[in-house]
Amino acid sequence: MKNNIFTFLSFASLAAFTACGESPEAAESNPETVEQNEIFQGEPLSMKYENEIDSLISQMTLEEKSGMLHGTSMFATSGIPRLGIPELTMADGPLGVREEISRDSWANAGWENDFATYLPAGGGLSATWNVELAHTFGNVIGAEARDRNKDVLLAPAFNIIRTPLGGRTYEYFTEDPFLNKQITVPYIVGVQENDVAACIKHYAVNNQETNRGTVDVQLDDRTLREIYLPAFEAAIKDAHAYSVMGAYNKLRGDYLNENEYMLQDVLRDEWGFKGIVISDWNAIHSTVKALKAGADVEMGTNAPFDEYFFAQPLIDSVQAGKLSEEEVNKHVRRVLRVMYNIKSIDSTSRAKGSRNAEQHFEDAYNIASESVVLLKNDNNALPLNLDNIKGVAVIGDNATKKNALGGFGAGVKTKREVTPLEGLKNRLPESVQINHAQGYLERYSKTEKAKLGDITLDGPVTIDELDPKLVEEAVNAAKNADVAIIFAGSNRDYETEASDRASLDLPFGQEELIEKVMEANPNTIVVMIAGAPFDIENIDQKTSTLVWSWFNGSEGGNALADVLLGNVNPSGKLPWTMPKNLEDSPAHATKSFPGNETATYDEGILVGYRWFDTKNIEPIYPFGYGLSYTSFAFNNPEVGKEEAYTESDTITLNVEVQNTGEVDGKEVVQVYVSKSDSQIERANQELKGFKKVDVGAGSSETVSIEIPVKELAYYNADSKSWTVEPGAYTLKIGNSSRNILEELNIEIE
Ligand code: BGC
Repeated sequence: MKNNIFTFLSFASLAAFTACGESPEAAESNPETVEQNEIFQGEPLSMKYENEIDSLISQMTLEEKSGMLHGTSMFATSGIPRLGIPELTMADGPLGVREEISRDSWANAGWENDFATYLPAGGGLSATWNVELAHTFGNVIGAEARDRNKDVLLAPAFNIIRTPLGGRTYEYFTEDPFLNKQITVPYIVGVQENDVAACIKHYAVNNQETNRGTVDVQLDDRTLREIYLPAFEAAIKDAHAYSVMGAYNKLRGDYLNENEYMLQDVLRDEWGFKGIVISDWNAIHSTVKALKAGADVEMGTNAPFDEYFFAQPLIDSVQAGKLSEEEVNKHVRRVLRVMYNIKSIDSTSRAKGSRNAEQHFEDAYNIASESVVLLKNDNNALPLNLDNIKGVAVIGDNATKKNALGGFGAGVKTKREVTPLEGLKNRLPESVQINHAQGYLERYSKTEKAKLGDITLDGPVTIDELDPKLVEEAVNAAKNADVAIIFAGSNRDYETEASDRASLDLPFGQEELIEKVMEANPNTIVVMIAGAPFDIENIDQKTSTLVWSWFNGSEGGNALADVLLGNVNPSGKLPWTMPKNLEDSPAHATKSFPGNETATYDEGILVGYRWFDTKNIEPIYPFGYGLSYTSFAFNNPEVGKEEAYTESDTITLNVEVQNTGEVDGKEVVQVYVSKSDSQIERANQELKGFKKVDVGAGSSETVSIEIPVKELAYYNADSKSWTVEPGAYTLKIGNSSRNILEELNIEIE
């Protein structure tokens, strides 16, 4: 594992990137690159191996070339041993390295040494709003992938959360493009420091699971550039991700893996990408069109591998004169370039990696403990005051539910997953008696709620039916305890890849159970464990204490217990809006989800809080929201400049964060930017900077946030360029999108 590099990205680094681009396909970088504020920066792919690559290609047969361009087993392409070229090996997934899959089917390989550290799911990581933890996350998973002898990690996954129903919401990061890129970049840098290529996914506009294999996304250029592409762009230009996964869906009529605009014009010509495009599994639909558009490696879901489009059909296409061998060489060159860079060829100095190291579990703990969001603490019931507590009722299926596995590629086989109940047992003194009651049962249906095609009900009951015996047990446990903690929410069977949820309703009769428990014991704390928004309005109105946690990795239960007990002061902030009604959220308000053959993104740039704020719709909890056990004040905000800024300037905003409470705590300073007199359509406000800061009780820390003026540009679809509108802007400084504490006005020339 290499050291953190925490640098400022400058134009110089980009120039360096292009200067070494002597390849036959050297491309211009986009001069519009936005300078980032203290962002992690990755190593560009080195072009110094091009001569060796030429020599290798000149010795290959067409069959050997084709073997390097398609899966010849479930998670690898062929090597060419006679030339010293190994297979290119890949592994899922975003929350930890997936168990070993058989070479020719989806069955697990039955290994006994393929355990991994389970890291918090995407929503949890982004809720930390901590870019250094994102780097740590990448570093852990990269080291584990390397130790499993993998070349490519199929992660991170960071499509924008367009609908709260999205099956992969838990796996992705956020609804906001700025937060998205700030988390994505350090994650990738961390992975690639281990000589493993990150495969960023799913490029692009794969924002729903419904009809994901066929849906044609139609959206305007401005929306594409401002909302859906920034994190991908930063992943290429700042993190230098070595591979990109072409998504299942279509964009403007063409499958992403056949989409010349996205794969050639944007990715390579504009952003300067020199690595490989790997298709999502079974997302290639042609040979010549896909290769010419820019797909490099075809991966699939089943044997026979020689029937893949890039297998025998590729060889046939060359022989029939439909595809030049030069074209084939271009793709092989890219694969070899990545292999040299990750030292899979000539591997003497390659990073070794490590797995399930105690340090990795500690890192998972640190991420989890900063991800928990305190939503409500009206009576200061939290942290729990053990002086008054002799007995705790721990209620709910999620108190004992393990969430490492599930969700196809995002499942992790782990030796350690501390559940919330175990976490409490680990942390509470023995004198406190814990009484667990399951309370509700997970039930699934083919037709109701989540569209979980494979899971059926056991008997003639509905998904929301409670078992009276379990309810009685839970109510009795609550009655006989000083405090009741309900662990509710969803799980990795309910939220999953390949299907979107059908509604925001809390499943399994939980709402009714929570009400009954609250009646039995007014000292009830509700802890939701889920990866996506749910309709918690009713519960929110009835309870005074509400906590949100995630599918939170190997140490999730310990981290959660530490938050409940005050060993950790919560500092997580919601990475998306919690809507009151599904119809309030933009894709649903515009009735443009899920579409049928086509999904038109009718809300345009007004995704997430941009919609709620602009349309004045009250959510249950807003984007960026989360409480602490202490209180903070923001004092003396200033930008130290009265003259107008120019486009090449960087705004340096300083603000003093004062911890006005009694315990140490971390706060996230968030800067939203508004332009009320804009000549163009704009969201009411947009996040353009943030920083997490640790402040001791009674102390103050000055936080400095840098916002390059270019970050305020909008995408001008007419001139196809980023344009900074001159005039007055307001910088709104708050600790959530709806709690703005200070405002500053600036002028741009
Ligand atoms: C998913 C990808 C995953 C791949 C391989 C696909 O279904 O969309 O995210 O990496 O399978 O498991």
